[in-house]
Amino acid sequence: MQELEVKKVIALMSGTSCDSIDAGFCEVYPDKTVKLIRGINYQYPEHVRAKIFQMFRGEASIKDICQMNFVIGKCFADAANVLISEFGKPDFISSHGQTVYHYPFDEKIDNISLKSTLQIGESSVIAQETGCLTISNFREADIAQNGQGAPLVCFADEAWFKWGKCKGKNYAIQNIGGISNVTVISQDYETFGFDTGLGNIMIDYCMGKYFNEPYDNDGEIASMGNVCDGWLDCLLQDEYYFMDPPKSTGREYFSPSYIESVLKFAPEDPKDIIATVTALTAKTIAQSYERFVYPNVSINEAVICGGGAYNKTLMRMLRTYLPKHIDLKTCEEYGISNNFKEVMAFALLGYCTYYGIPNNLPCCTGANKRVVMGKLTY
Ligand SMILES: Nc1ncnc2c1ncn2[C@@H]1O[C@H](COP(=O)(O)OP(=O)(O)O)[C@@H](O)[C@H]1O
Ligand SMILES: [Mg+2]
Repeated sequence: MQELEVKKVIALMSGTSCDSIDAGFCEVYPDKTVKLIRGINYQYPEHVRAKIFQMFRGEASIKDICQMNFVIGKCFADAANVLISEFGKPDFISSHGQTVYHYPFDEKIDNISLKSTLQIGESSVIAQETGCLTISNFREADIAQNGQGAPLVCFADEAWFKWGKCKGKNYAIQNIGGISNVTVISQDYETFGFDTGLGNIMIDYCMGKYFNEPYDNDGEIASMGNVCDGWLDCLLQDEYYFMDPPKSTGREYFSPSYIESVLKFAPEDPKDIIATVTALTAKTIAQSYERFVYPNVSINEAVICGGGAYNKTLMRMLRTYLPKHIDLKTCEEYGISNNFKEVMAFALLGYCTYYGIPNNLPCCTGANKRVVMGKLTY
């Protein structure tokens, strides 16, 4: 096997929140440590972002999707070129792309699986516009082995929190992006993980609808409202929360039409709506630990990352709902940026692709076996 070396990697990621293209210039080391040299949140042009939301709403034609693959590729390349102008070319780029559809369900047609996922942002455009080898399309190989192609960040969480410099405790590494996902790290149990459900999607949607704001800055609106227990209990009955892992979800399930249908039963005051949907994210995280984590692993610490870590009301609610003996921290306390953790994870996943090292965790995705995910574009 080729000897592993330190590599300079630009990783590119845009999550389900679609708030920005997160780009990071990283160094990845053979021991799987990732050092973030610089991270930027590169904004999509507003009309491009609007088109992406049109795709999320299922209102895009095949022509739109075909065009947007190249448009998003160009936006990702532009984000990479900002970093290249400052730091020079990396050894390669690792691009997650923009998820526009994720269908992890066990359905079949003529006995052929319909499990599928689609991340767009054409890698050839990125490679041609930057002149860098580009690694992309990670999720497909896992799905080809009957996995869900998600969550993938568990691989990095295991590398850093089980084997790496943060090792020592049993952790729930909880990302709160558009969707929330947890990686359960135990010193004596196999790593597992799953999407716990909604993260910020519903908070953001309601902030747009009632306050004309993209998100609830620092959780201020939620802090002014009252949680409506009746509506919260009703929202907690959704069948996703009761499904056994491995499981993953996205905007196809927690869609605008899902949100609109449950808003029919919402309290009148929009502040109470924001408070309640914020409580929903916190409560579903706590309940999913009770159902699926504590029976196997007793957790010492929950480490929060992603944009939700900036929502103070959400963090306060999590503190209330989680058992008192669990310490609540953010990944910043481990020297990992909240904002760029997923970028750092995809730098590591790309590093593994480059060297042909399997980079999925079947315990998290449900795949039949470990595989090397990712495709190379020259
Ligand atoms: N200061 C903040 N206060 C409250 N919420 C925030 C703040 N900053 C970011 N967020 C939330 O985090 C989301 C982005 O989180 P992110 O981890 O980037 O998610 P994704 O991976 O889905 O893109 C935003 O849409 C917003 O809801
Ligand atoms: Mg984001």
